[in-house]
Amino acid sequence: MRMPLRALCGLSISLMSLTFSGCAQESAPVSSSSKGPSTVSQEATASIGSAEKPSVPKDDAASAEVILGSPELTAGIPGEGSLTSDQIQAWLEKPENHVPLEIVLPLGLMAGTSQVQGIADNLMTRAKIELGRQLYFDKRLSADSTISCASCHDPDEGFAKHTQFGVGIAGQMGGRNSPVSYNRIVSGAQFWDGRAASLEAQAVGPIANPIEMGNTHEKAVETIAGIPGYEMQFRVIFGDDGVTIDNIGRAIATFERAIVSGPAPFDYYEGVRPFLAMKPADLDALKEDDPEAYAKYQSAKAAADAHPMSESAVRGRDLFFNEKVGCTACHVGANLADEKYHNLGVGMTAETPDLGRFVVSNKEEDKGAFKTPTIRNVALSAPYMHDGTQKTLEEVVEHYAKGGTPNQWLSTKIKKLDLKPEDKADLVEFMKACTGEFPKIERGRLPE
Ligand code: HEC
Ligand code: HEC
Repeated sequence: MRMPLRALCGLSISLMSLTFSGCAQESAPVSSSSKGPSTVSQEATASIGSAEKPSVPKDDAASAEVILGSPELTAGIPGEGSLTSDQIQAWLEKPENHVPLEIVLPLGLMAGTSQVQGIADNLMTRAKIELGRQLYFDKRLSADSTISCASCHDPDEGFAKHTQFGVGIAGQMGGRNSPVSYNRIVSGAQFWDGRAASLEAQAVGPIANPIEMGNTHEKAVETIAGIPGYEMQFRVIFGDDGVTIDNIGRAIATFERAIVSGPAPFDYYEGVRPFLAMKPADLDALKEDDPEAYAKYQSAKAAADAHPMSESAVRGRDLFFNEKVGCTACHVGANLADEKYHNLGVGMTAETPDLGRFVVSNKEEDKGAFKTPTIRNVALSAPYMHDGTQKTLEEVVEHYAKGGTPNQWLSTKIKKLDLKPEDKADLVEFMKACTGEFPKIERGRLPE
């Protein structure tokens, strides 16, 4: 579901109920106060960054506006060791933890604000993010308490896993590589083949998958409901329903939506790039004619200087975006992913290839097609592709350079590329410059 930004802004904060009942379920606020990209010059393909930061009114206690990625959202309930019932109760008693958040995406991802998914049906609150955080790291969701979501989507491994395939309960492996679990807030259908319609639907899958967490939904619900600290949180956050498998999915999905990649050198560069295209004389003239624009230039330049892209990365950026190399035919938009399915020929030489999207859509042209993954922070989550067969970004670029692996369903957008060794290195450097910070996330602090 696509949500137009404007339609979501009608809710004024002062009207929000501060009680614990799920308020305003039909509408979720997304801040409209974030400023658009620089007005000096815009290119549809490249205006995905701006050096401006939205202003967050700090002195307004009632404000629920928050930049996703702010560490306090995922830092856990303050304190150390296991969460006691007293600590959980004190946390739940704070009204501000139940106010639907007016979320602002960080610089870079911000350009994807209109792609934000799912929060109208599942409002984001601090309490729900925190509950989802606990569940994400809690091995008690698996049949034998050995596997959590983080076992395969580990914050230390780019929210994926450096193994070819996900390794689940009793060391079992499937045939697909663990994709990343961040920037899901701007993503719709989940899995390499898009078979889960939402993040909520996706989140409950692994729990009952025999080779992942090996549990049943009934047993998982029973286990969670039997832990007083969890039971209390579900009751307060979701009302009478309390612990259900759907509510477990809603909490985990909310936590995942709070995991976003922060501004990367690429984003700071995009902020200053329109000015770099101007002649020095014009830039000088700007100082007099439009002091506001000039001030924007100065702050964008300072930000870019503080987070520099190498010259190689800048060249790589131009290759990535240009028509001849055309990575942006698919890796496009704020998250550098088109949310569509394409066949690059990966794994197609196998005797019985994974047919990917075809199994879901039954459309001939979807044979061997997989969902385009994000390029943001991709340097942190090797190995690559749905089958984890490509170990490095260099290998990935070689795959594109040779025009993918020929097969009858190969995407028409995949063609042999005329790339010199320097070009290939530049593309890799550009992808590395798409790395921004992840929020700090507490991994312990689970209910006793
Ligand atoms: C045993 C390893 C393993 C565990 C445990 C696991 N996952 Fe996954 N996850 C995977 C693999 C492999 C895929 C891709 C499967 C596919 O596409 O068919 C995946 C896919 C996903 C996706 C889709 C991402 C995208 O780009 O479409 C999300 C989100 C996700 N997992 C979150 C979770 C959550 C939340 C949990 C805990 C409830 C979890 N995973 C537990 C291995 C795991
Ligand atoms: C036709 C659409 C398309 C084009 C063009 C394209 N990609 Fe991709 N990219 C994809 C898809 C789809 C996948 C996953 C394919 C799979 O697993 O079978 C992918 C995977 C990747 C991955 C691995 C990411 C991960 O998490 O596993 C990287 C890196 C990547 N592409 C970079 C590039 C670069 C660099 C270019 C330009 C040279 C490019 N892509 C052009 C669609 C495309």
